[in-house]
Amino acid sequence: MPSELTDLVSDVTPGRGALRPARSWLHSDAPSLSLNGSWRFRLSPTASVTEDFAVEDFDDHDWEDMAVPSHWVLEGDGAYGRPIYTNVQFPFPMDPPHVPDENPTGDYRRVFELPAGWTDAERVVLRFDGVESLFRVWVNGVEIGSASGSRLAHEFDVTSSVRPGDNVVAVRVHQWSAASYVEDQDQWWLPGIFRDVTLLARPAAGIEDVWLRTGFDSGRGHIDPEVVADAAAFPITLRIPELGVEQVWATKDDVAPLDIPEVTPWSAERPHLYRATVSNAAETISLSVGFRTVEIRGDQFLVNGRRVVFHGVNRHETHPERGRVFDEQHAREDLALMKRFNVNAIRTSHYPPHPRLLDLADELGFWVVLECDLETHGFHKVDWKGNPSDDPAWREAYLDRIRRTVERDKNHPSIVLWSLGNEAGTGSNLAAMSSWVHSRDAGRPVHYEGDHAGEYTDVYSRMYASVPETEAIGTDGSRVPLLGCTPAQGARQRTKPFLLCEYAHAMGNGPGAFDQYEELVRAHPRLHGGFVWEWRDHGILARTADGRPFYAYGGDFGETVHDGNFVMDGMVLSDGTPTPSLHEFKAVVQPVMFSFEADKVAVTNLRHSADTSDLRFRWRVEHDGRVVESGELEVPVIAAGVSGRVPLPPVTVAPDAESWLTVEAVLAAETAWAPQGHVVATAQADRSVRRRVPAARTRPEWRAGTGTLALGVADFVGGSLVRLADRAVSGPRLELFRAPTDNDEGASDEVEHSDAAVPGVSNAELWRREGLHRLTTRRVRVEQAADALRTVDKVSAANSALFVMVECVWTLDGGELELRAQIEPSSGWPTVWPRVGIRFDLPDGTQPIDGAEWFGLGPLESYPDSIRAARTGRFSSSVRDLSVDYARPQETGHRSALRELSLTSGGMEVLHLVALPDTRGRRPGFVLSRHTPQEIAAADHPHELPASVATHLHIDAAQHGLGSRACGPDVWPDFALRPETYTLRLQISGPR
Ligand code: GAL
Repeated sequence: MPSELTDLVSDVTPGRGALRPARSWLHSDAPSLSLNGSWRFRLSPTASVTEDFAVEDFDDHDWEDMAVPSHWVLEGDGAYGRPIYTNVQFPFPMDPPHVPDENPTGDYRRVFELPAGWTDAERVVLRFDGVESLFRVWVNGVEIGSASGSRLAHEFDVTSSVRPGDNVVAVRVHQWSAASYVEDQDQWWLPGIFRDVTLLARPAAGIEDVWLRTGFDSGRGHIDPEVVADAAAFPITLRIPELGVEQVWATKDDVAPLDIPEVTPWSAERPHLYRATVSNAAETISLSVGFRTVEIRGDQFLVNGRRVVFHGVNRHETHPERGRVFDEQHAREDLALMKRFNVNAIRTSHYPPHPRLLDLADELGFWVVLECDLETHGFHKVDWKGNPSDDPAWREAYLDRIRRTVERDKNHPSIVLWSLGNEAGTGSNLAAMSSWVHSRDAGRPVHYEGDHAGEYTDVYSRMYASVPETEAIGTDGSRVPLLGCTPAQGARQRTKPFLLCEYAHAMGNGPGAFDQYEELVRAHPRLHGGFVWEWRDHGILARTADGRPFYAYGGDFGETVHDGNFVMDGMVLSDGTPTPSLHEFKAVVQPVMFSFEADKVAVTNLRHSADTSDLRFRWRVEHDGRVVESGELEVPVIAAGVSGRVPLPPVTVAPDAESWLTVEAVLAAETAWAPQGHVVATAQADRSVRRRVPAARTRPEWRAGTGTLALGVADFVGGSLVRLADRAVSGPRLELFRAPTDNDEGASDEVEHSDAAVPGVSNAELWRREGLHRLTTRRVRVEQAADALRTVDKVSAANSALFVMVECVWTLDGGELELRAQIEPSSGWPTVWPRVGIRFDLPDGTQPIDGAEWFGLGPLESYPDSIRAARTGRFSSSVRDLSVDYARPQETGHRSALRELSLTSGGMEVLHLVALPDTRGRRPGFVLSRHTPQEIAAADHPHELPASVATHLHIDAAQHGLGSRACGPDVWPDFALRPETYTLRLQISGPR
């Protein structure tokens, strides 16, 4: 193999020939030509292929067509290889900076016609906005250069190589290179030219770069401009028509700061932008200017003098069909969805997004942490030995990456922090990046989570810190040691603003505990909120052998090394469906808080700076979930950070129904991201009169019986229920198992960043060991009394001496059938239980149960530590829609605090249940599903679930919490389900 090739793919420098310094991604009226579209393409299995394809007259007729931008592994239905998903692991041997000879290499060619008139251009520049991972470029057979830094922009001067008429551009892309060692983010490896390719005609005396640094103070705006242009480019004029600004800079020396009285500031809540132009005779550059000042004062992170709380998400660029190829419409819809769910901040994990995304963030309003394209997490495996972050040979590559990051996006008001990268250990190269940022941009602090001891960054950041540890960080004098810090370092870290750059791992069903973190943020001003991991599942739309579509994750493409479904950890499913966790997030972080008093409600505006003039307030009263009264609340405009007390309307309280008052803050007018009337915040108050729960029915005289009888709508044979309201039914049987969630399966031992995570065995593994999914029953007793039946069952698993006694008492009184089930565990259970309840199986017969109507908590699923989005009300759903299609099937669909439930078939009621609270006032929840927990647990993807022939009704006395242990803390003890005695009481009737 030619040594030159080895040199190139193993080269730790950032490439050769690209223009430096990097510059802003500007909207200029200078001519440009998009080279997006169809290119000729050839894929080779190794990097050592001849370079003859770069010559102009190379015959590429037997090549194929390839779209640019795209990832070749997502094109051609597998013809060009497959995506690979790994989290921390490198999918190639750790032999830095070398990569294997098996190095998929894509050669691209296309012809373009240089537009007439371009020969006047002083320079012609070829820009690549994103190529993974290393590429070389030729124009008309002349090698122009090479570059790495996959999600960064690279420009090349091609002036001397282009000519009027047709030109040939050739690009060779290697999937693996030395750069792959520093691009080890938790995501799919997706090679190719995946962002735009553009040819730019740079005019003579053009404006090479502009930076309008802005500030805001006490109503005044400030602009500190920087212009990169030759002397001949002057005069240059800055215009902001709306502010009457027309500033002419005759020479470079005239470029100076200017103050503007009375501007409207920019914030994530009110993203006010002013259209500006910077122009000269040769070109006009258009910018959106937002006035804001970012500063750190003591342990406070402030924008425009006010503390910022990040209610953020980590956002990867991911699209189920396009991968990291940017789709502006898709991105805009995603950002609008974030706004509708009260997300106010984005961390661009873990690389700069397509540059247009920042325009959208400026426009729609988000606080952005803009992260550099850098991660070396795989070196964790070798205790960070040889980590590029501390190797001088890599210094220039690190600096090149951060320069390209900051320079490209520096004009965006939405960016309030620069982040050096993610999980790259620590070392002098990171410190050097930070000091470069400090010297270049004094207006934005530097973030990097891996700087645990706070040696070179400005904010204290952590991922997945537990609730107690987060509290310790927010308070002084705590004895809880901070991860990776000596006591002195810990004390110093507490002098800085703190944020959780990742928390609440939203994999599968979960996380729990959003509210616990939010409470801490409200109590301790040093805590500035955080960024949920993460926004969206990265599933790739694939098809089964028989053509059924599904969202693929790690392993589905036959990868040798992969990390399974760890890439499916978003609050939005791959198809764009918000999961219940996103609703929970919205409810927990809602920017308006309501506290009810007897005849008043205190309305608190928790926003950064916006008042409530954009909101209207509504109220309604429901009796057993049916609206009886409603109206508007008169709420004066409340400034940010302020509370107002408002009289409530008189509420009609029903004597024999639950009476609930609901208030809502809704948008008074349509916005760019939601319609008028969109609910921003809501709260409920229970105004019910206390009602007596009927005492449990007793029967004094039990006698041994055959157990074959009819009690109202229930028929029993041998003590077993066989029919309910003329429908075949089996059960009730004890169910202690739920299909483990990803958090139940989590052992947290791969999480090095959480002291609280208990490494070891997952809960799911313990449940399997105890046989919770394979319980067997021995009927101990069947007894009868007048209009009553009693069974006692002993339930246990093979090879276990542990058991649960289940006593079921059926009584018929005045035509009303009641079931009381008492569940009593033996002593010695070594685990928490996933659930405790009873299950009825309802075979389809001629009229399958396909719907439910209930009065209880809803409309979406809820669990003990994720219940804030649920409200008390009357809801209905198809059985199908009660379950969430998590990428890997798992527990789903639990509705808490049930009062009444109707099972329906084709819209007609089939069975009606009333759930009575137990003596401690606890109400059961229910799950209605087309599959049993055992069936769900056995499937790796939704399409692997077996054909369903029955509906399964679970009445759960309790469910275990969700936690975040797939990556982070386990369920908080208050929400863990400890085996103990539970009683369920149900009144059951047929159609009413
Ligand atoms: C973090 C990492 C993320 C992601 C997450 C788990 O350690 O920064 O990229 O891997 O864990 O999903």
